[in-house]
Amino acid sequence: MIALVTGASSGIGAATARRLAREPGARLVLVARRRERLEALAAELGGATVIAADLTDPGAPARIAAEVEREHGRLDLLVNNAGAPGRGSFGRGGWAGVQAIMALNFDSQVRLTEALLPLLRRSVPSAIVNVASVAGRVARASAGDYSASKFALTGWTEALHLEERRHGVHVGLVLPGFVATEGFPQRELVNRRLTRWLVSSEDKVAEAIVDAGLRRKAERYAPRPYALVPVVRALAPPLYRRAVGGGRRFTPGTATNPVQEAGRVPDGHEPPAGPGPAS
Ligand SMILES: NC(=O)c1ccc[n+]([C@@H]2O[C@H](COP(=O)([O-])OP(=O)(O)OC[C@H]3O[C@@H](n4cnc5c(N)ncnc54)[C@H](OP(=O)(O)O)[C@@H]3O)[C@@H](O)[C@H]2O)c1
Repeated sequence: MIALVTGASSGIGAATARRLAREPGARLVLVARRRERLEALAAELGGATVIAADLTDPGAPARIAAEVEREHGRLDLLVNNAGAPGRGSFGRGGWAGVQAIMALNFDSQVRLTEALLPLLRRSVPSAIVNVASVAGRVARASAGDYSASKFALTGWTEALHLEERRHGVHVGLVLPGFVATEGFPQRELVNRRLTRWLVSSEDKVAEAIVDAGLRRKAERYAPRPYALVPVVRALAPPLYRRAVGGGRRFTPGTATNPVQEAGRVPDGHEPPAGPGPAS
């Protein structure tokens, strides 16, 4: 099995690469910008193909596809995992903020999939797993740009699942809740005893990715109880809005911007409201 994981230099991507490497006959292709991190992981795994690339570069998808084709001649699993948090409220980040996060969290996933789809179709039964978020099903204040990118990814993935079924390419969706990683430290949640339990592990998400990819599940929340969040949103919208708009205790920030994390507002814009129940 040849499996390509984007965002393999840290967090969920690295955990997924480690998990997939335990599958019989697995050979990994690791993609991210930090080559030294990927090479260290490849060494730990006893060898892997390393492709250092910025996925927002226009030429990256074609270069990655050519390298996978040349080195392996097939692809059994593509895990579109690379991503980053947004820049906070629309008042602060504006259209530029939305555009920047869409470019990484949505456009780059679509473009890499486009470049690799011919190879995936030639390698059937093969699979694609797109790593979205619970924030791809429910929104919250100060994470509109992130939610927009993940809602887009979720909708596109559901359509692609239906379209590619007849070609033998399974398309699965993984929707993680809070996981403390480099890009998503979840400090506010982790630092409070009351909310620490909400934060899950990279390994749980990696197992969900295996479910969606190798066990061909259409959709997996990770951990599973997060599936209840969009149910509450659908059944009782006012209750949901009260819960995510009702102060910072249950509406922690996920951004890495220190100004945003400190809750300071540099230019007279509105203070950052709590983003809600999922990163
Ligand atoms: N952690 C959470 O709470 C959470 C919750 C729901 C969904 N997710 C999703 O899970 C995925 C993984 O996030 P994570 O928590 O594991 O975060 P992370 O530890 O910060 O990992 C993000 C990965 O994406 C890569 N990346 C970022 N920008 C890139 C670019 N321009 N080109 C290529 N690679 C790039 C990073 O590698 P380099 O910096 O080396 O490029 C890194 O390997 C994301 O899609 C995220 O939205 C996370």
